Amino acid sequence: DAAYDMIVVSNRLPVDYQAGPDGETQWKSSPGGLVTALEPVMRAADGAWIGWAGVADREFDPFEHDGISIIPVPLSASELEEYYEGFSNDTLWPLYHDVIAPPSFHREWWDAYVRVNRRFAEAAARAASPGAVVWVQDYQLQLVPRMLRESRPDLVIGFFNHIPFPAYGIYSQLPWRRQVIDGLLGADVIGFQRAADAGNFTRAVRRLFGYATRGSVIDVPDATGEVRHVVARHFPISIDVAGFEEMARRPEVQARAREIRASLGDPETVMLGVDRLDYTKGIRHRLKAFGELLRDGRLTVEQATLVQVASPSRERVETYRQLRDEIELMVGRLNGDHSTLGHAAIAYLHHGYPREEMVALYLAADVMLVTALRDGMNLVAKEYVACRFDEDGVLLLSEFTGASDELRQAVLVNPHDIEGLKDAMVEAASMPKRERTRRMRALRRRVRENDVANWSASFLKTLTGAGIIEPGVP
Ligand code: G6P
Repeated sequence: DAAYDMIVVSNRLPVDYQAGPDGETQWKSSPGGLVTALEPVMRAADGAWIGWAGVADREFDPFEHDGISIIPVPLSASELEEYYEGFSNDTLWPLYHDVIAPPSFHREWWDAYVRVNRRFAEAAARAASPGAVVWVQDYQLQLVPRMLRESRPDLVIGFFNHIPFPAYGIYSQLPWRRQVIDGLLGADVIGFQRAADAGNFTRAVRRLFGYATRGSVIDVPDATGEVRHVVARHFPISIDVAGFEEMARRPEVQARAREIRASLGDPETVMLGVDRLDYTKGIRHRLKAFGELLRDGRLTVEQATLVQVASPSRERVETYRQLRDEIELMVGRLNGDHSTLGHAAIAYLHHGYPREEMVALYLAADVMLVTALRDGMNLVAKEYVACRFDEDGVLLLSEFTGASDELRQAVLVNPHDIEGLKDAMVEAASMPKRERTRRMRALRRRVRENDVANWSASFLKTLTGAGIIEPGVP
């Protein structure tokens, strides 16, 4: 085995397997914010990425992709069901997103979660050079830090949780609440998106283990009674800001943006939603508000069109199937009630798109709707801002996203409040140019200050001891 000084471990690799037309292996970029955030970091670090290739019952040899060493970890079909669809996405995901959907608790799913976490930990232990930095990602792999520390105490181990960490009253429902926290405490640094998430985690540690905490430092005793200082604090994730802006400035992308507006019948206001099709994203709330605005005549289809990109996600999980049916029923009804031959109320797109097309959509949108009920960060909000070099466009942003901690100049909304959401949508659609520019300028300054290189650098600095975290300083 080759030995790497820097290793990222995540459930999903930055590339997904796909069978080509003649059955040959092809690799395509995989979905989600995590990959977007870590790819640039990894390319720079010359490290290895350990993860699953997105398909069951297939083994792949390690390979190179775009300057990154890829080490695939296999999952069987039943592990896919129990560890990925089950425990990760039908237990932890809804639980950590404030039980928007009811989480299911199954002991067999937990067993599979432990088994698969061990496989990832073993792969990392094999690939790591002495004293290497191993950075474990997200809720699917919370047991890996402890497992890795046990087999390789020489390693420097970081963990970053990309999704929210819930309040104790919710977290404590988890039958395996002690095992999960103990798994995480195997890390040297545990990163969260928001200060509130780190606070929820530290409180859970105190309630369940009684360990002493001072600010962001937790005293974790080991078997011999010696104390290890574990840092738990927030590191808000970001995007490749310059990369998005550069793409947005390309003439062909701008031409595509104009073409998109024309193909929508050149309405005064193009509203845009871009989400994985997930119940945390508040897509139904957004559709309801838009539908009522049309029904009440506060907007007309000549004035405003809603483009909703809902990229397919976790389609074998029942809650996601139901959500898709509900959304498609709503879209069908709204279009049936309000569209005219020249103007559709909603352009609904159940696809993923390449980044260029997304950037053109951002440029084409007067109002960006981010109405998540709960979201760790929401990188779409930051992407929209990064692309708007013209200092125009209005970001409507849910208070329940991590992004709203930073993007205070957005039009902030509570998506549960449908009347408030409607008012905010009308306000955004009719905002005077001066006001739009003032807000967008402030938002862009904020997004530029903290891009993804900053995020990874500050996490890794803290992890390798270069960051100055004094005990007692939050
Ligand atoms: C979120 C999670 C990621 C996940 C992504 C896509 O961003 O934080 O860990 O990879 O969604 O979901 P999927 O289940 O397709 O990997």
